Amino acid sequence: MTAFRIAILTLSDKGARGEREDESGRILHQMSASLGTVDHYEIIADEADLITARLMEWCDCGELDLILTTGGTGVSPRDVTPQATQQVLDYEIPGMAEAMRAASLAKTPHAMLSRALVGVRGQTLIVNLPGSPKAVRENFEVILPALPHALAKLK
Ligand code: MTE
Repeated sequence: MTAFRIAILTLSDKGARGEREDESGRILHQMSASLGTVDHYEIIADEADLITARLMEWCDCGELDLILTTGGTGVSPRDVTPQATQQVLDYEIPGMAEAMRAASLAKTPHAMLSRALVGVRGQTLIVNLPGSPKAVRENFEVILPALPHALAKLK
């Protein structure tokens, strides 16, 4: 099987200040191990400009198949991950985001508060995931079975 190249970007003001352990990033490392290797990992603050810049840099380096973000998908004023992601996408894959929301709604009505996007820039798939460890696990497990095929198609 192809070993895909993965990056993990955690969006958290507290995490960026070193005030919170990045449990969600750790979960994504573990859960993505079956797909390939994590080549880049970073925690940055909930600042749209920083997020957009890092996503563009990672996509445009031409070496990454998948970027997983966690955090900042909700409805508070500091939640800016979806709008920052939107800025860099060539096109969205709405079905993947909707599949995560639909499955999550069976677990909590708060699932409808996530504005997470999934889409493509160049040959890199970008997946937004919510921030809590529980939400990351419950959302990522929904799309994981479809990722090998999706990533293979993007090459
Ligand atoms: N999805 C699942 N499966 N499980 C959850 O616990 N939490 C929700 C939602 N999606 C949750 C979930 C909550 S409480 C919020 S506010 C939104 O994701 C956005 O989370 P974020 O702002 O941390 O990105």
